[in-house]
Amino acid sequence: MIQVEGLSKNYARTVAVNNISFSVEKGDVVGFLGPNGAGKTTTMRILTCFMPPTAGKATVAGFDVFEQPFEVKKRIGYLPESPPLYPEMSVADYLMFVARLKNVANSEIKRRTEEVMERCAIADVKPKLISKLSRGYRQRVGLAQAIIHNPDVLILDEPTSGLDPKQINETRELIKSLSGEHTIILSTHILPEVEAVCEKVIIINKGKLVATDSVENLKHRAGLNAAIQLQLDTAGNGNAEVVRQTLEQVPGVSKVLEKTVSSDRLVFEIEGLSDRNPRADVARAVVNSGWNLLELKSLTFSLEEVFLELTGSSAEATVANGKGAAA
Ligand SMILES: Nc1ncnc2c1ncn2[C@@H]1O[C@H](COP(=O)(O)OP(=O)(O)O)[C@@H](O)[C@H]1O
Ligand SMILES: [Mg+2]
Repeated sequence: MIQVEGLSKNYARTVAVNNISFSVEKGDVVGFLGPNGAGKTTTMRILTCFMPPTAGKATVAGFDVFEQPFEVKKRIGYLPESPPLYPEMSVADYLMFVARLKNVANSEIKRRTEEVMERCAIADVKPKLISKLSRGYRQRVGLAQAIIHNPDVLILDEPTSGLDPKQINETRELIKSLSGEHTIILSTHILPEVEAVCEKVIIINKGKLVATDSVENLKHRAGLNAAIQLQLDTAGNGNAEVVRQTLEQVPGVSKVLEKTVSSDRLVFEIEGLSDRNPRADVARAVVNSGWNLLELKSLTFSLEEVFLELTGSSAEATVANGKGAAA
């Protein structure tokens, strides 16, 4: 549905987006993740035909964003960081106005406006002036204007920023409910948001693509999943060193770290080979040695840890390339 190839954007001397490529399939809900200044908004503004790239190419439903902007805009609903609202208009008037701008057929405008107000839970404020709405309502009016022409693709730039926790939840639920009908890219610098709403993630940092994958695969790819934590007591049969040596002999174990050592409780962190989780073999080795197995659990890593791992190493790469140290 969306293809981005070698896309770059410079502002004067700032390289905001640096040769990124990715694709988004029809029906995907993708988190576009990166710290502030990563280039998320810039990329989204190119995809929504608000400005041309410096280099590279992007297509939406096969149409080039630069050469066929009308075709692209028909198929895209865009919620910018600050929604383009007219505070002096009522909610219903504003949405009918946007529907007209977006070429919704005259005979459909009223019905479509009612429909999106229902959908976005703003029907109760339809006669109200936008200036009188809370931030959460305004954001939902912003979403309503993005979907009014029933576009295939939704591009949402930090849709929950500035909202309180309750409004954040409501907005996330609304986005999830839209995901069946639309392909969605939403930018965020908040990791739990990606886990709450998205199946896939595109990570950028300092204008460069760091990773693009499913949330699940990303955790695996970072090689962090095979770690396990083991708690045991040796029941007087040997000390921590003996245990460590025994564990190191277990097939599939690549590394053994001592975490806690006390007279009645030993805790180890064990890393497995990437293609093999050695849990069963570890358990057997412990029991066969006559030790008491107190706990054995897989350590799952949060997306946050994966993100730090990925962006941390890319920051080092930038320094190594002589492009200057991170501030
Ligand atoms: N209009 C602009 N003029 C000059 N620099 C800009 C402009 N917009 C963004 N930038 C710079 O481009 C980089 C990427 O910004 P942006 O795309 O807004 O990132 P994000 O949305 O991920 O926070 C930043 O370094 C930012 O300062
Ligand atoms: Mg931004």
